[in-house]
Amino acid sequence: MSAPIRFFHASQLHTVSDQPVTRTLLQYLREDSHCTSVKEGCAEGDCGACTVVVGELRNGALQMRSANACLLPLASLHGKAVFTADQLGSREAPHPLQEAMVSCHGSQCGFCTPGFMMSMWSIYLQRADRGTPATRPEIQRALSGNLCRCTGYRPIIDAMQVAESMPERSFDRQALATRLAGIAEEDHFHYSAQQQHWHAPRTLDTLLTLRKDMPDATLIAGSTDIGLWITKQFRALGDFISVANVDVLHQCCRKEDEIQIGAAVSVEQAYRTCLDEYPELAELADRFASLPVRNAGTLGGNIANGSPIGDSMPWLIALGARIELASINGTRQIPLEAFYTGYRQKDLRPEEVVTRILIPLRAKDRLFRVWKISKRIDQDISAVCIALSATLADGHLHDVRIGAGGVAAIPARARQTEAVIEGKLWDQATLEQACTAITDEFSPISDMRASAAYRRQLCANLLRRFWLETSPFSEAKDAALSLTAYAAAGEQQ
Ligand SMILES: Cc1cc2nc3c(=O)[nH]c(=O)nc-3n(C[C@H](O)[C@H](O)[C@H](O)COP(=O)(O)OP(=O)(O)OC[C@H]3O[C@@H](n4cnc5c(N)ncnc54)[C@H](O)[C@@H]3O)c2cc1C
Ligand code: FES
Ligand code: FES
Repeated sequence: MSAPIRFFHASQLHTVSDQPVTRTLLQYLREDSHCTSVKEGCAEGDCGACTVVVGELRNGALQMRSANACLLPLASLHGKAVFTADQLGSREAPHPLQEAMVSCHGSQCGFCTPGFMMSMWSIYLQRADRGTPATRPEIQRALSGNLCRCTGYRPIIDAMQVAESMPERSFDRQALATRLAGIAEEDHFHYSAQQQHWHAPRTLDTLLTLRKDMPDATLIAGSTDIGLWITKQFRALGDFISVANVDVLHQCCRKEDEIQIGAAVSVEQAYRTCLDEYPELAELADRFASLPVRNAGTLGGNIANGSPIGDSMPWLIALGARIELASINGTRQIPLEAFYTGYRQKDLRPEEVVTRILIPLRAKDRLFRVWKISKRIDQDISAVCIALSATLADGHLHDVRIGAGGVAAIPARARQTEAVIEGKLWDQATLEQACTAITDEFSPISDMRASAAYRRQLCANLLRRFWLETSPFSEAKDAALSLTAYAAAGEQQ
């Protein structure tokens, strides 16, 4: 039976029963709730003007994370709390962040300011856990999804640091957790309006039964891809089945031989989980979209969307990851590269959902690198993303795996190039053969991100970089060749 959407905003419980299923949180806040501190800049997750903080209970623990209101369907807020900049403080008692923004001259036209405030507040809230003030790189990370076209970023980052040096403004997490515990107790949330339905089950069994009964419904997780189909492409998406509330799909664990990541685990958490085992992912983990997009988007959504320029597939393919697909008839596991059968086509049966991603632990002496090439450092889509892994023994490379994005209609494995390198001495001659092989292996397209020729050249250049960093014949072996790592190290000092 259909129930209303219930969530907290500005200390009030909002009960919504007549809004279209695809109405976004941003539209609701501005147009129905008249909360105009939330701005609309791009309506596609790029500018951060609409940034809010969303509080939710996950396995009993309160999470407070920044998110883009323009991407979130209102129904996905059921059982949660939304915070906007106007709630931070008042004219009489401004929040330290607000005082610091004024004293540091962090706002000129002010259009971007509420969004910045919420990104800043999301990490201000973590200061008790951190125990130390946020560093400039940490602040930059938190602000990676916020654009300012007139003030510039230095005074805004200064403001965050100044606010952290002021007496703390506490936030009653326990009170919020108690309130949230009381509003969304159902095992299967079902909302319907204008003959469109939104289902959000809590158990995997109910999810799989719904999928069997509604094979044409749109599966939805964090809505960071689907949000654009709604706001930009005005697609008719029919009914929705959300995987976001299924507890078991939020599990992340490390087993004896692999890391298991539930499909509904956020991109942010998934990458953080893998960093211990594969620290080489650090730069990509920060350059995948922005923090609010990574907070909402899921690893399962990235994989299931299957974009040829998605960032997770190259490194997952290079590491030999498998995915688990489940239906009421049972589960199966396949190598990730076998999932993609054509442009946006997948080996996913109508009654199936992606449930887990299984990533092997690092084998001894395993080399691994991943590089994302895009026009901007933050919040940009890859022109090319290449990941390589191999085991080096006596100067020879074995078990070579190369994953590539942006070079074909699907996230691809460079099998011909792998074959050229496999078992060979990792010297200059092998490198040159490999560069020729990878240039010939793919037929990339030219588009606004990069020309086909540039993409081909990048593939070869990144192989050269792999050689420079890993070959026993390279004089630059083990040197820090990453400009962004170099810049970040400088900022830390
Ligand atoms: C501003 C912005 C920047 C971005 N930058 C990047 C970037 O740098 N790199 C990058 O790779 N991506 C980027 N993206 C794309 C997006 O954030 C990712 O693809 C994200 O991981 C999608 O996850 P989601 O949970 O939001 O998926 P959703 O939008 O909810 O769903 C995406 C697709 O996956 C399907 N799906 C979701 N979960 C499942 C499941 N469990 N089983 C089966 N099907 C499922 C849905 O039906 C849909 O087809 C960006 C997006 C935005 C808006
Ligand atoms: S309006 Fe630009 S990110 Fe939402
Ligand atoms: S103050 Fe004008 S866009 Fe930031």
